[in-house]
Amino acid sequence: MPTLPRVRKAVIPAAGLGTRFLPATKAVPKELLPIVDIPTIQYIVQEVMDAGIDTVVFITGRGKEAIEDHFDQYLDLETKLEKEGKDDLVACLRKVRSMVQIVSVRQGTPRGLGHAVLCARQVIGDEPFAVLLGDDLVDAKVPCTKQMLDVYQEYGKSVVGLWEVSDEDVPKFGICGGKMMTDRIMEISAMVEKPKLAEAPSHSAIVGRYILTPAIFDILEKQAPGKGGEIQITDAMATLMRRDGFLGLQFEGQRYDAGDKFGFLQANVAYALKRPDIRPKLLAYMREVLAQTKKEG
Ligand code: G1P
Repeated sequence: MPTLPRVRKAVIPAAGLGTRFLPATKAVPKELLPIVDIPTIQYIVQEVMDAGIDTVVFITGRGKEAIEDHFDQYLDLETKLEKEGKDDLVACLRKVRSMVQIVSVRQGTPRGLGHAVLCARQVIGDEPFAVLLGDDLVDAKVPCTKQMLDVYQEYGKSVVGLWEVSDEDVPKFGICGGKMMTDRIMEISAMVEKPKLAEAPSHSAIVGRYILTPAIFDILEKQAPGKGGEIQITDAMATLMRRDGFLGLQFEGQRYDAGDKFGFLQANVAYALKRPDIRPKLLAYMREVLAQTKKEG
């Protein structure tokens, strides 16, 4: 097989209104809500970087300028902190602004996830690329996107990240069916966006990680609106699957749904417990709360 082109760019759709987190997201982009003290989108950009991808394409909309500011230089603040000898904070700010090259594209009218991805066409060009959805945080030894790139490199096909979900959650996701080629890799033969449980091909949900070949763009250009009247990436991927084949990876790691209030809290607790400066205090507090709750019955 001829060598595959390297995946150099990642698309991060970030134009959503964040209605699930109102009123917090009225003036603050949901992507900047922090897990402990790091905005969710910074974890996503970190994953991109750790996977060896050097350019991020944000698909944004009105009121999302703060995301670009977050990854930009803030020289006055750096100088002030430097003078005050707060070197750790300076290093922290420098780290954020030197993560990756950032390109921003406006979506204009939001017409669905497929449309958001299509907005990146000019920046991506004729290359394979990754898509990461900011609501899905994956804590893994090998970054989830890297695990998926390895599958792409081995098989030369588009790949989605798969996660087993409960009956109740099936209608909230794109669901895939197919046969397992290895322990973790599925050769997908069906993809349905948010099916009813009875119509779902399995419980394997597409979570927010995709490696796509550029052939998806021509399909998206012609894609009719699907579920919810939106241009769905899942519908376009189903066409690509029939044409070129498509793989799903049951990746290793723990996924958190930071787009859901409870998932957001779970992620906060889990990531805080990984911080040596916070862990002992948080554990003590959790024990206290538990004991108090037991007493109250
Ligand atoms: C989107 C996709 C869906 C996927 C989900 C993962 O849905 O359309 O196929 O399973 O992301 O988070 P959304 O959550 O934007 O409604």
